[in-house]
Amino acid sequence: MLIKRPRPWEVSENLVTPEHVFMNRRAFLRGSSATIACAAALGLAGCGEAAEAPTAGPNSEAALTQKAAELFPYPKNTSIPIDRPLTDESVSSTYNNFYEFGSHKRIASAAEALVSRPWRIEIAGEVDTPIEIDIDELIAQMPLEERIYRLRCVEAWSMTVPWSGFPLAALVDFAKPKSSARYLKMQTFMDPDVASGQRQRWYPWPYTEGLTMAEARNELAFMATGVYGKPLGEQFGAPIRLAVPWKYGFKSIKSVVRFEFTGTKPVSFWEEIAPKEYGFWANVNPEVPHPRWSQATEEVLGTGRRVPTLLFNGYEEQVASMYKGLEAQNLYR
Ligand code: MTE
Repeated sequence: MLIKRPRPWEVSENLVTPEHVFMNRRAFLRGSSATIACAAALGLAGCGEAAEAPTAGPNSEAALTQKAAELFPYPKNTSIPIDRPLTDESVSSTYNNFYEFGSHKRIASAAEALVSRPWRIEIAGEVDTPIEIDIDELIAQMPLEERIYRLRCVEAWSMTVPWSGFPLAALVDFAKPKSSARYLKMQTFMDPDVASGQRQRWYPWPYTEGLTMAEARNELAFMATGVYGKPLGEQFGAPIRLAVPWKYGFKSIKSVVRFEFTGTKPVSFWEEIAPKEYGFWANVNPEVPHPRWSQATEEVLGTGRRVPTLLFNGYEEQVASMYKGLEAQNLYR
């Protein structure tokens, strides 16, 4: 039977249409609840300032997100081969891991509490000059593009997603690390008032991840600021998250606020909780089972199919040279 597989550049138009009037769902909901409140009040007291959305104004989250949306679509980079159809947005946006908002997959509506603009980014540690910069000022200085990547979760499911963003290598160049920097440590925001999961104190918040400098400079390491041709929704890790497709999904840290260059190997969130189950390297490897399940196959979300898992999630050509000399077991741990 002939199965038609779309080519990387055959992204359906509805995924890349510029959404110049894009509003994130939360801002929209806020707007509509204000409208409903306003409508309810009509005929009684009229709609004055009290009915205005609390996010109004040029520096409101909605206005800043809309401005960021005007940069979309980013130019497509089709040089990285992809052999699977895109996962439907309705699937990938409703099945997420974001423990800050709950330890289950249906966190999308809880994550709408995250205020993703304005957003400050800190670049610290072994750099010429520590920097604090607004997300949109940073984006303005980066080479923007869209790439389609597969994502393989350590839980043995996978999806295929069109990320928009810039190569992490460009951020590394911008940061000007010293030669003493051997690792890049990244951290997620910390705000238990909006992220109820962070009130669970037995987790080692904030979520932390790390890469070697070679990994951070690898051509595949990507900082996503958008997905499906528009700014990242909160559940995907707005306003900026990592995408390292050759590693298990837990390495792809969401909603990053801090990049620290360091001489010391960082201990990541999951590594601190269960070091035997979630190692620092976490390279996708079908031959090394997780201590509690096999990694030989994966469920492709939205298709009902299981397929064999590939070494480095199929990105061997681009990344294998970084791990020469490491045993299969160590590639994972
Ligand atoms: N980043 C933060 N800050 N918190 C998380 O809980 N989960 C990780 C990763 N990044 C996580 C995170 C895991 S386990 C996976 S599989 C991916 O995000 C899931 O990304 P997705 O929800 O966009 O599919």
